Order: sequence, then C-alpha cells, then structure tokens
Amino acid sequence: MKNDIQQILLTEEQIQARIAQLGEELSAEYAGKNPIVIGVLKGVVVFYADMIRALNVPCEMDFMCVSSYRGTQSTGKTVVKLDVSADIKGRHVLILEDIFDTGNSLSFVCQHLQAKEPASLKICTLLDKPERRNPNVTLQADYVGFTIPNAFVVGYGLDYNEKYRNLPYVGILKPEVYEK
Ligand code: IMP
Ligand code: MG
Repeated sequence: MKNDIQQILLTEEQIQARIAQLGEELSAEYAGKNPIVIGVLKGVVVFYADMIRALNVPCEMDFMCVSSYRGTQSTGKTVVKLDVSADIKGRHVLILEDIFDTGNSLSFVCQHLQAKEPASLKICTLLDKPERRNPNVTLQADYVGFTIPNAFVVGYGLDYNEKYRNLPYVGILKPEVYEK
C-alpha cells in the first residue's frame, strides 16, 4: 500500500498538531452550546474520531452519507444515502468533512441540513482544495485544517476506489496507480 504513495503531504504529527489547534478554536466556539457534530461518511471517519476527542466541550455525534453521480452534467447529482438520526431543529450543528473539493457535496449537505432549521450550521473540513472548486459554489468552510494543491490524495480516511483509507497520513497517489 505504502509503495503506491508518491509523496507524503501531511504526516501524522502535522495532522495531530493541527487538530489540537482546531480543537481549541472549536471548544471556544461551542462552549455551552452542546453541538451536534455531523460527520459526512465515509471519508471523514478517521478525522472525526480524532477531532471530537480534541473538543473539550460536550457534544453529540451523528452521521450522514451522500453519494454523487457524475454524468454528462458538470455538476452531477447528489443523493442522501444515510440521513442524520437526530432532530437538529434549533440545535447548533457542526459538519465535519474530509475534503472540500468541487464543493458540490458540501453544498448539498448544507442545503439539506439548513432545511431542518438548525440554530447554527458551520463547516470544519480537514482539507481544502480551492483550485478544484465549482465556480457555482459560493459556500466557504468556517474551519480548514489544511489548504492543499490540486493533487489526488489518499489516506487518513480518504480513498481511491475504497482503498488507502487506513493509511495514517495524507499522501499523493502515484499516477501509475490510476493508469493501471
Ligand atoms: P466534492 O467534489 O467537494 O463534492 O467532494 C466529494 C467527495 O469526493 C469528498 O468528500 C471526498 O470523499 C472525495 N474526494 C474529493 N477529492 C478527493 C481526493 O483528492 N482524494 C480522495 N477523495 C476525494
Ligand atoms: Mg471518497
């Protein structure tokens, strides 16, 4: 698995240090608010597990799963595969996401959750790849772990064809892996 990685972009140490910083910021933001932290499956799982343990405030856990079908339309179509189980009306909601890429899926998730009338809705993404953003997406993340260049990355939850999610760091995949 590690032989397929061209370059380690973010080491375990870099990721943990950034999560500790985000944990302080988010703990200040959500003190006394008992937020519902919603993870967008599956890519967020590893980040989610580390991030909630860096939160020094009570919070509730919930999850969503969405799926994008990219056909001939440039925007593609996104559907909910798993909805949140909690009633988020009037609650403070923090979305955790693995990567903010084109932004299509996060825009969809935000619209979907906003319709449920939370008291507040904020986004924390581990990675942001602004060069890939769909120009129609005006949404911005409130908290970003790392802004990264336009390369396909895997590890720390992120996959290529469901593989590499269990790598402990974020790495750039060797081009020959796609070309196989
Ligand atoms: P979007 O393009 O912002 O809608 O991102 C949709 C999903 O694509 C993300 O939540 C990731 O699961 C996946 N994705 C986007 N860029 C990458 C990448 O570089 N590596 C692995 N997965 C990615
Ligand atoms: Mg994925």
